Amino acid sequence: MLSITEKEAIDHEIGLVPHKRATVIEALKIVQQHRGWISDESVAEIAEYLEISPAEVDSVATFYNLIFRRPVGRHVILLCDSISCYVMGYKQLYTALQSKLQISFGQTGPDNRFTLLPNACLGCCDHAPALMIDKDLYRDVTIEQLDDILQQYT
Ligand code: FES
Repeated sequence: MLSITEKEAIDHEIGLVPHKRATVIEALKIVQQHRGWISDESVAEIAEYLEISPAEVDSVATFYNLIFRRPVGRHVILLCDSISCYVMGYKQLYTALQSKLQISFGQTGPDNRFTLLPNACLGCCDHAPALMIDKDLYRDVTIEQLDDILQQYT
């Protein structure tokens, strides 16, 4: 069941749009913010609250890559694997991250600190290669910078 805090935040979003269903993505973000990820149960709860089908909620949830349908670590690393980053050193960054964190794409480390995911263009192709950790965007990333970047996230 959605918490009172979750409902209040979703109600606020509902007040900004003409139809409840227009708040699906915001509702997903709110619930994820509180629970870390979006389970099938969360999908069903949001659907019930917005009076739409779970399938509609799920289709939005799976479309947006920042909505996590599986448990993730405390921090999520999104490594851009699109063309500019690919030619500017994506593979080397991926190899370095795998080695430093001992995880591959789709995995979370045993300490639950990081989840590593591939991501389509992060919108800063002129500063490739790029990665994002939580809401922080890193551009022109080098392997040498990785330790300093990662140590900011505990
Ligand atoms: S291709 Fe990586 S940011 Fe656009």
